[in-house]
Amino acid sequence: MIYRKVLFMRVFTAFSFIFAAGLAAQHTYTSGDIEDGALLYRGTCVGCHGPDGNLVPGIDLPHMKLRRASNDDQMIAIIRNGVPGTAMPPSNVTEFQAGTIVAYLHSIGNTAGGAASAGDAARGKAIFEGKGGCTSCHRIRGQGSRSGPDLSDIGAYRRAPEIEKSIVDPDAEILPQNRTVRVVAKDGTATTGRLLNEDTFNVMILDSKDRLVAFPRANLREFTFVDKSPMPSYKDKLSAQEVADVVAYLSGLKSVEVK
Ligand code: HEC
Ligand code: HEC
Repeated sequence: MIYRKVLFMRVFTAFSFIFAAGLAAQHTYTSGDIEDGALLYRGTCVGCHGPDGNLVPGIDLPHMKLRRASNDDQMIAIIRNGVPGTAMPPSNVTEFQAGTIVAYLHSIGNTAGGAASAGDAARGKAIFEGKGGCTSCHRIRGQGSRSGPDLSDIGAYRRAPEIEKSIVDPDAEILPQNRTVRVVAKDGTATTGRLLNEDTFNVMILDSKDRLVAFPRANLREFTFVDKSPMPSYKDKLSAQEVADVVAYLSGLKSVEVK
């Protein structure tokens, strides 16, 4: 699948504060800068350092448990130059951009990640497949529908508080690759679904019946992104404990099993 690099249209309310503590005195980062840092982190760092920044052994970036750097300026230098002779690659970001990543890491170090630890993953799996009806839209390791995103390794790229937010407030933040589109053909037929890919000639959509449909651009009258998630909020459908259980289950899904 080709992930489209579209900027987030939505503001993460969780980070809508100005975060300055712990940063080099000459810089202040706004909530918008921190969102940019989050995007950069998810785009280039999450695969190695993990959604909580603690996947490289001995390094916990949000909590400043570091082996080499001892302050923000040194982190910024390492982010830009990499660590020669190790897996840490240099990165083509400006000093300011590297600073926004560090500011984002501080912001997650300061938000409690409690939801997952309060839940029971086995109960969460049962709710996901049963009462929650999540498999009617989501697929995990080959089981379930494709109309929503595949969640087989969601724990490898989303933090527990973000997963929780997706369940209780699905409209709050939608990842670019998960956006829903609505197309209207010249004959007036409308189709809504998940945008899988688009190129110069075609728009490929997975419709609500799990069918892959290609629309030639030349035949389209309208092409719009839908802001509202097709996913219902579970705020009033599941108890706080049940949500915590589902979050514990999903946070633990970190790699796709090889069958
Ligand atoms: C290919 C895997 C990989 C990627 C991608 C990667 N890192 Fe690293 N990073 C590592 C490894 C491994 C180390 C430990 C290097 C060492 O000291 O042995 C490290 C070290 C670091 C350190 C130094 C920590 C310390 O102990 O002082 C920082 C800061 C850091 N990474 C931030 C980032 C950021 C931010 C990004 C994204 C822009 C990123 N890394 C991308 C693998 C990666
Ligand atoms: C009617 C279909 C539908 C149902 C039912 C549904 N979802 Fe979703 N879900 C979606 C769609 C579509 C998205 C992508 C848009 C978005 O992020 O809101 C999504 C997004 C998500 C995400 C964020 C994925 C990411 O990559 O960031 C999580 C987590 C999630 N759903 C969990 C659940 C859980 C848990 C349940 C059951 C309690 C559930 N969903 C039920 C359709 C659904």
